[in-house]
Amino acid sequence: LSLTIREFNEEDLADCIHLGREMVDHHRAIYEDENIPYGDEELKEKLLRRDENWLKFVAVENNSIVGLLILEIRKATCEVDYIVVAKGKRGRGVGKTLMNKAKEIAIKKGCREIMAKVAARNVEAIKFYNKNGLNCLGMIEVFTPLSREGEEQWYKRGKKTVFLGFECYY
Ligand SMILES: CC(C)(COP(=O)(O)OP(=O)(O)OC[C@H]1O[C@@H](n2cnc3c(N)ncnc32)[C@H](O)[C@@H]1OP(=O)(O)O)[C@@H](O)C(=O)NCCC(=O)NCCS
Repeated sequence: LSLTIREFNEEDLADCIHLGREMVDHHRAIYEDENIPYGDEELKEKLLRRDENWLKFVAVENNSIVGLLILEIRKATCEVDYIVVAKGKRGRGVGKTLMNKAKEIAIKKGCREIMAKVAARNVEAIKFYNKNGLNCLGMIEVFTPLSREGEEQWYKRGKKTVFLGFECYY
């Protein structure tokens, strides 16, 4: 795999926005919801934000951008704010190479740990993180729906799991 990881620069913007759309496509698929917005503007803001504790990297293979990683250094904790690999390039070690970069940077910045937030439905990403050593559980987000839309969001697909002994919809 002839892969390079380098810092993001503004010429990469369009390619990264495209990767952001693939991230949303993935969430549309797992939540069976075609109405999840692409959020190009939000990602553009993230990509153009300049801050020494906000770090952006791209994975490049044969001159094309195949992955994006955004890290936020918050004192002892390095958060993986964003990680995506191009749809046709998954499962070949690109994500792992990006996570190794995250570890290298976090150590260099003196962090004690790396963390990521992940949608409970994104079981593949949870497996990916687990394989990369993110195997300690922190805060859990819990919800109760209050409207028809909320109920649709959480109950309609009937996806249920048992987590720490409790039955949960996800
Ligand atoms: C999650 C993602 C970044 C992983 O990148 P990737 O390049 O496909 O992952 P890699 O090929 O480097 O895999 C690294 C390890 O994770 C495992 N892994 C990756 N995807 C997996 C999956 N779908 N199911 C099970 N294991 C998986 C691999 O088996 C590999 O393990 P190994 O080291 O024992 O071989 C990529 O699938 C992606 O972009 N997904 C959509 C966006 C997304 O969900 N991002 C995370 C949001 S929080």
